[in-house]
Amino acid sequence: MAERLIIDTDPGQDDAFAILLALALPDVEVLGLTTVAGNVPVAQTADNARRIVELAGRAAVEVRAGSDRPILRPARPAHEVHGATGIDGWDWAPAKAPPMAEHAVDWMVRTLLAEPAGTVTVATLGPMTNLALALRRAPEIAGRIRRVVFMGGGFFEGGNMTPAAEYNILVDPEAAAIVLGAGMDVTGVPLDCTHSAPAPVDWSADLEAIGTEVGRACAGMMRFFERYGNRKYGTASRPLHDAVAIGALAWPDLFQGRRCPVAIECAGTLTAGMTVVDWWRQTGKPDNCLWLNRCDGPAFYARMADALARL
Ligand code: RIB
Ligand code: CA
Repeated sequence: MAERLIIDTDPGQDDAFAILLALALPDVEVLGLTTVAGNVPVAQTADNARRIVELAGRAAVEVRAGSDRPILRPARPAHEVHGATGIDGWDWAPAKAPPMAEHAVDWMVRTLLAEPAGTVTVATLGPMTNLALALRRAPEIAGRIRRVVFMGGGFFEGGNMTPAAEYNILVDPEAAAIVLGAGMDVTGVPLDCTHSAPAPVDWSADLEAIGTEVGRACAGMMRFFERYGNRKYGTASRPLHDAVAIGALAWPDLFQGRRCPVAIECAGTLTAGMTVVDWWRQTGKPDNCLWLNRCDGPAFYARMADALARL
């Protein structure tokens, strides 16, 4: 069955790769993009998403801006990682399409109620604020969503913003708790998984060799995206976290994980935003998440380069 996909995103260079990958996959139908305050403010994420779909030659893919801040907590942009625009590393042409007036959460609810039940997957690549607000607006969509795949969290790998918390969950832990508590089929793509799949060293050269505008833009974004993480972790390359999440949808044969209970720490001082993974099922709680912890990185990036070359 083709994957009919809503992508909720906060571009972000790795979000950009994820969006381009989804648009390049023949078995994926992108119904639309919803953007959220995350790496950069929400208006900027929407403008970035329009630039990305236009770069891919897919200007018909609609982009709507959603929540301008997490449910309870302040927004926490990550310019130190993603640069001033959020998609630094390439000289982007301004978006031609104007912003859409409809709020992303309204569109998400409207679409999930209109499409046949069980046919639409939601991939969240930033803080889960929009999906959580949609679930609060229309709880019945929980029974209509085919599955949710989210990039976020970390357990065996800890966090990337605090020792306990990864960015997407730390920014809006209440939203993550709502999503994980809604009884849906949820797959988590945490740092445990993405850190097992760093990009090949100097992969940007392979992207340049594609010889297209998409390849050159991706090469520039890759170089920019890697500099912060390589300096922080002392590594030679970095994983494209959000693209790995789309890979988990498209190529499950490249991934491993375990269904288990996953809860979100919302009250902790040192541990706020932690994904508490009951890997050994000690709590007796229901398995509410397929927690992926391995990805075959070389195969994933080879397949992604092939896909990007088709745009
Ligand atoms: O921790 C990585 C996640 O935070 C990715 O989604 C990246 O884009 C940032 O949003
Ligand atoms: Ca993101």
